[in-house]
Amino acid sequence: MSLALAFESSCDETGVALVEDGKCVLKAPLFSQIATHRPYGGIVPEYASRAHLEKFSLLVHEILESHPLKPGGIDYVAVTTRPGLIGALLVGYQTARAAARYFKVPLIGVHHLEAHLAAIRLSGHEITYPSLGLLLSGGNSAIYKLEGLGLISVIGDTRDDAAGEALDKAAQILRLGYPGGPLIEKAASEYILQRQISTGDELLLEKENIFPKILKSLRRDSVEFSFSGIKTALLRYTEKNSNADVNALAFFYQERLVEHILRNLSHAIENTGKLPIIAAGGVLANKRLRRGLEDISKKAQVPLLIPDFKYCTDNAAMVAAAAHPYFEKKILSPYSNVTSERTFVTL
Ligand code: KG4
Repeated sequence: MSLALAFESSCDETGVALVEDGKCVLKAPLFSQIATHRPYGGIVPEYASRAHLEKFSLLVHEILESHPLKPGGIDYVAVTTRPGLIGALLVGYQTARAAARYFKVPLIGVHHLEAHLAAIRLSGHEITYPSLGLLLSGGNSAIYKLEGLGLISVIGDTRDDAAGEALDKAAQILRLGYPGGPLIEKAASEYILQRQISTGDELLLEKENIFPKILKSLRRDSVEFSFSGIKTALLRYTEKNSNADVNALAFFYQERLVEHILRNLSHAIENTGKLPIIAAGGVLANKRLRRGLEDISKKAQVPLLIPDFKYCTDNAAMVAAAAHPYFEKKILSPYSNVTSERTFVTL
């Protein structure tokens, strides 16, 4: 049995977690900075770093109240070292380093995107190699081939926005608020209810076809994301139609976004010979997307693993889950230094 204390601060979530064997969460207090950043419609890096600085000690105390840990009481400390906001990462890294020194245990640096995928361990699953990793968050949209521990190559990335960013920006255009993903999803599901009593707007929108098919020019089997086209289409449409039905726009926007993600995943499955899929990141909290992924996995007859809802968005338990195999196998993590570099080590 091993016990880890983990820290997450790559963006706007301050998280600390106490996790057994990389999968059993004993305690995982999390502070969301959404209210701090909401007035700005996005994350203000300096405010994020300051909030991490304030909250880490409170969250650590919360853990110590229920689990009075002493030096020797844990086996390792895990921390996100990349990618992310550099000030925010540094606050987490220095806090984790201090904790590792106090407990006299190793410090294991973790790649944030690998941590999102490793979150499936928190529901008792294991990553098998090779697998496909679909990662959709506020800062990343990509499909990876997972070839082994720390051996991750990029199959397709985004040309412009990330999926979560595209949802956040759309919600801003529609004046729904921040963060956009859950608000667009809510408005879209209200439209589905509303559609049962009136189909007028739907027909109008479908006829006008406001959201172009994404990247029509791409090679048929390519794997590449781009969300800036539908975002611009939404902006132009709302500029010209001030009374447009917001719920209908949210619905069609979400449909196009999901369709594009599913198209890319289908191509990746075909191109790599039907590997199992792990899908993770904050956007996987979206139920419409989850249903679409389940359909694809059934059709292609490949297994699909998605973390529990509560571990889809940023949290520290997934950081411990990612660090665990490095600790168990005594392999030096390739992510031991803090850097804002986005890319994986590609071998
Ligand atoms: O993974 P995450 O917590 O943070 C990053 O590392 O970026 O993802 C945050 C993103 C935001 O863009 C947010 O709008 C999106 O995930 N998101 C959702 C939903 N919940 C959060 N997107 C679609 N549907 C949701 N229900």
